[in-house]
Amino acid sequence: METELSRTLGIEHAIFGFTPFPAVAAALTRAGGFGVLGAVRYTAPDDLARDLDWMQEHTDGLPYGLDVVMPAKKAVEGVTEAEIEAMIPEEHRAFVRATLAEHGVPELAEGEASGWRITGWMEQVARSQLDVAFDYPIRLLANALGSPPPDVVARAHDHGVLVAALAGSARHARHHADAGIDVVVAQGYEAGGHTGEIASMVLTPEVVDAVSPLPVLAAGGIGSGEQIAAGLALGAQGVWLGSIWLTTTEAELHSRALTAKLLAAGSGDTVRSRALTGKPARQLRTEWTDAWDDPAGPGPLPMPLQGLLVAEAVSRIQRYEVEPLLGTPVGQIVGRMNSERSVKEVVDDLTRGFEKAVDRINRIAGRSAQ
Ligand SMILES: Cc1cc2nc3c(=O)[nH]c(=O)nc-3n(C[C@H](O)[C@H](O)[C@H](O)COP(=O)(O)O)c2cc1C
Repeated sequence: METELSRTLGIEHAIFGFTPFPAVAAALTRAGGFGVLGAVRYTAPDDLARDLDWMQEHTDGLPYGLDVVMPAKKAVEGVTEAEIEAMIPEEHRAFVRATLAEHGVPELAEGEASGWRITGWMEQVARSQLDVAFDYPIRLLANALGSPPPDVVARAHDHGVLVAALAGSARHARHHADAGIDVVVAQGYEAGGHTGEIASMVLTPEVVDAVSPLPVLAAGGIGSGEQIAAGLALGAQGVWLGSIWLTTTEAELHSRALTAKLLAAGSGDTVRSRALTGKPARQLRTEWTDAWDDPAGPGPLPMPLQGLLVAEAVSRIQRYEVEPLLGTPVGQIVGRMNSERSVKEVVDDLTRGFEKAVDRINRIAGRSAQ
């Protein structure tokens, strides 16, 4: 599965994987794909450095990337985290307390830190992550919520790092191209995490046309080799998968109950909700998302307020595995994530399925399989 982009990066398969877990990213890189470590959860630069050290030791000199979340449109600017905290209305805090109490969610133990405090989507935090990242031989820097600022693009290029950005529409993609981005990830509505409203089948060729000759990666709803073949047939130079890795044996979800929920979920069990971060993000539908999406409630706050507001609540829900509220960002492909497998097994399955799909299309086209 070779494309111009995979040759540029020197990878065997044009399979890119976003993951918050270093062990998954490293395993994907070792399996011949391209692992991209999500940095959003690293508040302390030292923690990111520790995990990038680990990645270095476990990727056999093969290429990998890093993903940061720098929102192009900032809800709040030039203020400290404490000042942002102070902007959260009491009505919303009371709603969190009431929803947790309704489900009997215990408090964290004395001194137990909230493990889910995501501040990486504040620009100053993302910038401190970049200060660490450029000390490592990352080959690609991806940004989730818009084009990275021009100085970040220039800095990446100075280090020989390709810059990728996620796009949910052809307009976004053109904006990325104008900003000097090297690779556009066309991420469809089906995808886990922050997502737009256009499905991958429609979005991929629109983005390919909009930014040609820039390479495009197809993302959203890909979990089989047949779907990879479809993405490549639509003009993509590779695929970018996020959800599928969540149920791999290397993923550190730290919750058997959540893994069980993912394995049991069908493709209709996700919702695009602002409950987690303040921006629409596809995730498992739970009583937590239902509460936030209920018009009778106060509704979610804008990013980054919502993320700060719910951070401790999410930690408590995960810590005590409160099943009805327990969720995670995940895409519609969750319906095909029905068994726990290693990253290598997933990649082998993807490449086998891709070959089958190519043979099938060749037969349909009247060509003999190679
Ligand atoms: C648990 C989870 C967290 C995600 N967080 C981020 C993120 O921090 N940055 C980012 O660029 N994309 C993030 N995404 C989106 C992925 O990069 C990817 O585009 C998406 O998962 C592809 O669609 P799929 O879920 O159908 O594979 C996340 C996806 C998931 C499932």
